[in-house]
Amino acid sequence: MTGGAGFIGSHTVDRLMETGHRVVVLDNFSTGKRANLARWVDHPMLHIAVCDVGHGIFAALAPIVAKYGPVERIIHLAAQVSVVHSVANPLVDMQVNYGGTLHVLEYARASGVQKVVLASSAAVYGDVEELPVSEDAPKRPVSPYGIDKYASELALDYYSAVHGVATTTLRFFNVYGPRQDPSSPYSGVISIFTDRARAGRPLLIFGDGTQTRDFVYVGDVVRAIIAAAGDGNSRVAANVGTGAETSVLELARTIVDLCGGTSKIEHAESRAGEILKSLARVDRLREQLGVVAETKLVDGLRLTLG
Ligand code: NAD
Ligand code: UD1
Repeated sequence: MTGGAGFIGSHTVDRLMETGHRVVVLDNFSTGKRANLARWVDHPMLHIAVCDVGHGIFAALAPIVAKYGPVERIIHLAAQVSVVHSVANPLVDMQVNYGGTLHVLEYARASGVQKVVLASSAAVYGDVEELPVSEDAPKRPVSPYGIDKYASELALDYYSAVHGVATTTLRFFNVYGPRQDPSSPYSGVISIFTDRARAGRPLLIFGDGTQTRDFVYVGDVVRAIIAAAGDGNSRVAANVGTGAETSVLELARTIVDLCGGTSKIEHAESRAGEILKSLARVDRLREQLGVVAETKLVDGLRLTLG
């Protein structure tokens, strides 16, 4: 797995290790943390290799493969994850997000990997005309991040069609849960709001808070990843969301309530280029991968608050 030390990656490692798999984590620890994997660090079935996916994965995997045999499946989560960073640094984004995916696919082609799963994003759709957004909606990404994720999807399709590599793409909506890092101003809104509400500090909403998102709990995302890594479903691209829309204001109020009601809710200017509504159509996730993201927001928030 690439990006296995990160938020979604480390939860996926937990599930794979609990079910007895041998797991190799390739990560450059730029946003990922060793602490996220602390539970397994001395476990003989977990191997961690420091590696920048933008520079290739052959060298990092070679000693592990020599000792334990070939890589069977790759879950590719490593990425430069900030949309805002991608706007300021499009070349870095291309090298890590698109380039990293090509390196993974080249490895898969050369080594006979049975399945590649890509973490893509709702960002591939850009501004959406019809909600809930179906996988067949036009792809009009509005950031380098969205462009590189979409280019990665096209590369998966190409490697499937031309080189016979089995692939599945998952388009994550707004994922949240424990271990999501709140430390950057561009961190996920739930990680920021829960961090502030725990400390009784004000929550800052950009705009009036009527903008909506499809917030999906990380445990449900892990189930989608594990299903996608199985056999079948090649050349499928599926949204990973709940099919339920929540406004940022409603989210803020719920979090404040869960934390005892002390934090104030404040408002600031809307973010430039903000998408106003986001909601996934989830039929394909259910029909092709057999997964329903069933964790209710309030339950997922309780799990996040711990
Ligand atoms: P994260 O930052 O916690 O995880 C990303 C991981 O990739 C980190 O461990 C980081 O150290 C690693 N990484 C970054 N650059 C790397 C490089 N060049 N080489 C090797 N490793 C590198 O973020 P996350 O939320 O867990 O995101 C996982 C994946 O899901 C990413 O591909 C992201 O684009 C995608 N995604 C996330 C969301 C969300 O809401 N969190 C939404 C859509 C898509
Ligand atoms: C998120 C992901 C992005 C992914 C997309 C897919 C993060 C950081 N970004 O983008 O990678 O491609 O989902 O759907 O996970 N907000 C506030 N106050 C805050 C922080 C945010 O009001 O302190 C608002 C924002 O203005 C926005 C909403 O909350 O309306 C969600 O913001 P954010 O969590 O940053 O995610 P997205 O921009 O939707």
